[in-house]
Amino acid sequence: MSYNITEQEERIAREQTQKKLEAIVPRELLPNGSYAPVPGIFDIAWKGLLELPYFDFVRSTREFDNTVIKENEEWMLRLAPMVARKELDHEQLKLFEMHSFRWVDTYPVAIVENVFENLHNREVRDLIIRHAGEENGHSELEADFIIQAFGVNRLDVWDSKPLVKSTYLEEGKESDAMSSLRKESPELSYALVPFCERCVPPATRIIGKALREQYGFKDDILGFFDLHTYIDIYHERFGAYIMAKYARTRRLQELFLTALDERRKILIGTNKQAYYALKAK
Ligand SMILES: [Fe+2]
Repeated sequence: MSYNITEQEERIAREQTQKKLEAIVPRELLPNGSYAPVPGIFDIAWKGLLELPYFDFVRSTREFDNTVIKENEEWMLRLAPMVARKELDHEQLKLFEMHSFRWVDTYPVAIVENVFENLHNREVRDLIIRHAGEENGHSELEADFIIQAFGVNRLDVWDSKPLVKSTYLEEGKESDAMSSLRKESPELSYALVPFCERCVPPATRIIGKALREQYGFKDDILGFFDLHTYIDIYHERFGAYIMAKYARTRRLQELFLTALDERRKILIGTNKQAYYALKAK
């Protein structure tokens, strides 16, 4: 599997996602208030990145990350391979989604925290706010799935506990590379967040297909998965845009790569722990 999104995949994802989302009721889709902080960034096969000074860094970092994902496919795709093999029963699937809900639910806040360090840079500030706004409500889509698929009460979803006791991120500790990156380039320290979303579209494509074909769930409760086959194409692009514009020095690029490598290891570790916790149940 390739982890770079092609123009064809982007077109198909947009068309199919729009169609599938129409099956979801009641869901108010608001056309107003959408401001693209970078002109054209939501266009299919946008070429704006290519003109930016550090695009080569984006290209090589995507290649590096593709290699990490390929080597760790079992652990970086949100347990998608296990769902595709129907290795998780309904109870395990429910517990995994309730665990995932904790992260999805706090994600907009984790994004918007970056805004205070980027107030001086209008376009980065606006990208952060737009990104946080687009993530807002996704946890309710995930809650809708859990409620309708497994009969859980919404308040119990909101009150769910993670399968993994504590994470590096929850403890509020930052690695040396991350804290240097934050000090030396708050733009890049934010960019790492959306850049890491690049493994979400392939993961949710696999999971959405498996939930339909293996578990028998219908379109009208799968909005959370369908939406993520599409929206994160653009969130990755937010990160890539900032990298292509602000990864000015070798040192910043190295700090970014170290921090990316650390985040990927945390993701792998967290998914592994969650999986083994599920298998022990
Ligand atoms: Fe996203």
